[in-house]
Amino acid sequence: MILNQVESLASKAFDELVKVKDVNELDAWRIRYLGRKSTLTQILRTLSTLPLEERRVVGARANELRRALETAFSEKKIELEQSLALLLEQKPLDITLPGQRVILGRLHPTTQTLDEICEIFSNMGFQVVEGPEVEWEYYNFEALNMPAEHPARDMFATLWVDLDTQAGGRAMLLRTHTSPVQIRIMEKLRPPIRVIAPGRVFRYEATDATHEWMFYQVEGLAVDTNISMADLKGTLFEFARRLFGKERKCRFRCDYFPFVEPGVEVAIDCSMCQGSGCRLCGNSGWIEILGAGMVHPEVLRRVDIDPEIYSGFAFGMGVERIPILRYGIDDIRLFYGNDLRFLRQF
Ligand code: PHE
Repeated sequence: MILNQVESLASKAFDELVKVKDVNELDAWRIRYLGRKSTLTQILRTLSTLPLEERRVVGARANELRRALETAFSEKKIELEQSLALLLEQKPLDITLPGQRVILGRLHPTTQTLDEICEIFSNMGFQVVEGPEVEWEYYNFEALNMPAEHPARDMFATLWVDLDTQAGGRAMLLRTHTSPVQIRIMEKLRPPIRVIAPGRVFRYEATDATHEWMFYQVEGLAVDTNISMADLKGTLFEFARRLFGKERKCRFRCDYFPFVEPGVEVAIDCSMCQGSGCRLCGNSGWIEILGAGMVHPEVLRRVDIDPEIYSGFAFGMGVERIPILRYGIDDIRLFYGNDLRFLRQF
């Protein structure tokens, strides 16, 4: 009876040992069959309670099995250790090597700046909208008070998409500024309107350190009853302070854009020299950051907003200007030249 138990234990133990794959499993196996609580140990411990004849037979077999299991255990252990050594030999693993560095991507300096600008205006209640980069001549010029042959079109060296159809405002071009989005929004929405429109613009220009043929602008537009120049000044002044710091000063000077009246050019005092004059600001102490003005009544009339009831202000700023000023970047071509040595710095 007990002898049968010992025999079945033996076959079970050897069967399982074959399946053992690593030292942890081997240890568990040892505890299961040779440990203090194992069946075999229990049997050996109770030998003295058996009748003499049975004690002799069972005792001999149980002790024999115990030795066999111990030997099998040691052999298996050596086998496992050797196979690990073999594995390391075939495929050396140098655990002293440094880990592989994961290079993180990051946002382009322009994207970072755009995010910042949008955040500031969002907090002031402006909604972020977008318009197409390939635009009708109508939106880029006509509707903005620049009919064909208007001399102000010379301010915008234009990349035409299709020269043949350049008639009656139906020609297509790459937008030269984000101002056409003003028209698209006013065609769709009724006052009160408060939007900003970030995006790419294109100019037919030779590139140099200060000119790119593609760059970014952020357009702003607010239309409501009783909007005045004071609202424009207050909004832009607050924007400049939030972006460049509380001590910044703003300068508003007359400028001309056909779609605003009056028009202004806004500059902030140079943060490098605090206004005393340096290389960055061309010794003037001031840096122009945007064009702005009160939406021209003719522009409002075109989109069916009554200028007798409503008024509005608009502004348009260059985006790359901001990181250029902040970091003293001396060549705008670095922005879209895709040199990672430049881009990784931001
Ligand atoms: N669109 C003008 C430019 O690109 C900037 C501007 C926008 C001026 C809105 C006045 C009002 O130069």
